[in-house]
Amino acid sequence: MTQSSVLNPDRLRPHWLPTGWFQVGWSTDFPAEGVRPLRYLGGEQVAYRDTSGTLHILDAHCRHLGGHLGYGGHVQDDCVVCPFHGWHWSPEGRNTHIPYQPDRPNRARRLRVWPVREQSGMVYMWHDVDGREPDWEPPDIFTDTASHTAALQYHAPSQVKFDALTLHPQLVSENAADPIHFRYVHGARSHPVFLRRWQDEAHWFSQIGFGSRWRPMEPDSHDGDTLSILVAGVGLNYTSLSGSMNTLILLSTTPIEAGTSDMFQTVWLEKLPGDTPDVLESRLDQAISQLPNDIAIWSHQRFEDPPALATVEGQAFTDFRRWARAFYPEVADEFRL
Ligand code: FES
Ligand SMILES: [Fe+2]
Repeated sequence: MTQSSVLNPDRLRPHWLPTGWFQVGWSTDFPAEGVRPLRYLGGEQVAYRDTSGTLHILDAHCRHLGGHLGYGGHVQDDCVVCPFHGWHWSPEGRNTHIPYQPDRPNRARRLRVWPVREQSGMVYMWHDVDGREPDWEPPDIFTDTASHTAALQYHAPSQVKFDALTLHPQLVSENAADPIHFRYVHGARSHPVFLRRWQDEAHWFSQIGFGSRWRPMEPDSHDGDTLSILVAGVGLNYTSLSGSMNTLILLSTTPIEAGTSDMFQTVWLEKLPGDTPDVLESRLDQAISQLPNDIAIWSHQRFEDPPALATVEGQAFTDFRRWARAFYPEVADEFRL
């Protein structure tokens, strides 16, 4: 936390440049050859793989004369080469070669390097407005939402991207602190309740029980109809739906610039005996059919601060909002909500 934000705790409201890991695509979006332009978190980036396949993300604009490395650039010797005058930029953001001045690369200018993680087919990029390095890692969907999910077999995931939605990541993540909306937005038959929850600096976890089937279960059981949500930073929501069948869902929201975010939904269905394409299609449908209902709310929602909370929802929601403040260092006014 920067000193200025410690001094101004009231200003730590959500804005469009939160700190944390954000999904910027799936591994398949970044082929071995070539460069790919990205536009996230108020900036423009270029992504490319080096010869070993490791993915790198750098600021997009060449420090020579500002050519965009993501449009017409190419990869050579693990560097991205600018299409304008052929300068080479290394994974560390250094200029290593100027073709018409080979003995003297520019040692002074650097490109910003965006930390990258590639895991289980997802690509994450770290953002911090003050340039601080990552101090936590993106969770693993197969092990980190519930204890039983790692032992199961899953079909290849289905992936859906929603471009440039007018919604803020925190509104999405607050679902983890809001069991009651499941009744009104998603048609749950009764008011779902928290079975347990915990938080640490980077994570906010809740397990939510539906109907009566969970009641006789141990809190850690996966045998009732429960939803476990692990929120990591404000942009990543790892969910496991447990009950008659198990489904894992990662819902990621990544700001583009002030006012808009891309949303990535990845769904893993458990492999079950007798799965046919028809059965799988209807299970997938069931898993993803509710998201548009949420998006319809989030896209028009205002950040009510402080919110008016009923007693039963007050504690968790207040805890969540307080926890989330840590991801918002001070930023320029143009990025405020
Ligand atoms: S602008 Fe990139 S090499 Fe000239
Ligand atoms: Fe929801």
